[in-house]
Amino acid sequence: MQLLDGVGTAQRIQDRIREEAAALIPQRGRAPHLAAVLVGEDPASQVYVGSKVKTCEALGFGSTLIRRNAHTSEAELLQIIRELNADPEIDGILVQLPLPKHISENAIINAIDPAKDVDGFHPVSQGNMVLGQPTYLPATPFGIQLLLAEYGIDVSGKHAVVIGRSNIVGTPMSILLSRSGTGGNATVTLTHSRTQNLKELCLQADIIVAAIGKPRFVTADMVKEGAIVIDVGINRIEDASRKSGSRLVGDVDFDAVFPKCSYITPVPKGVGPMTICGLMMNTLKAWKAGA
Ligand code: GUN
Repeated sequence: MQLLDGVGTAQRIQDRIREEAAALIPQRGRAPHLAAVLVGEDPASQVYVGSKVKTCEALGFGSTLIRRNAHTSEAELLQIIRELNADPEIDGILVQLPLPKHISENAIINAIDPAKDVDGFHPVSQGNMVLGQPTYLPATPFGIQLLLAEYGIDVSGKHAVVIGRSNIVGTPMSILLSRSGTGGNATVTLTHSRTQNLKELCLQADIIVAAIGKPRFVTADMVKEGAIVIDVGINRIEDASRKSGSRLVGDVDFDAVFPKCSYITPVPKGVGPMTICGLMMNTLKAWKAGA
């Protein structure tokens, strides 16, 4: 079994992004610029957005972080999006999810100019993805595809079981794995909370993508010998042995599953850094398209 190293892989891909951007900055006159919008005080969201801004700095990209408190209105947020859409210095816009309950995520995502939708969440982006047309791919599934490609793992003809059907991970992951072309051509089963025979399906899987948001949900008895396991989960659980009193675990029971599989992503340092990598690839693309 081999660990799929998200940190090292993201670093290598980001070195290439930095070089590509640096070579084009003289002719473009400025660096790529990402705007991140963070509403509320959710600790995990603050960490994710902080990592995205830091990565921009490391790549020589500009970034603008717009923070608003949890009582911000939907109208105010829509106005921020409109201003970012109209700003020629901004190439990419991301609104960190989840948003407070009184704000419609759909209304906000739909307001983002698809040309700046570097998270790939807008219906136009998702529609183009389904149709196999050029677009911005959602950062997490895109990052997973980049990770598999860097390790030379070909999913063509394999049976992939995706656990979880969220708009930002499970559903787009199932589409990317099943569509024709590089990184695709897998036979995909998309499973969810109503799936009745999940264990049987998982035991048939050459690849499992766990994106259900339940700590250590995928146990060793659900995994076929030699399977590839991608763990998208980031769950904080209590751990009295830690000074902080808690630690992060994925959606996979890592210690028990690790000996059975051919490849597995750790949590943290697996899919997380690759999500940021996908976002940076999209931001570079948006900047280049705006030339
Ligand atoms: N919340 C959880 N994952 C993501 C992501 O990839 N992008 C944004 N904007 N919010 C998220």
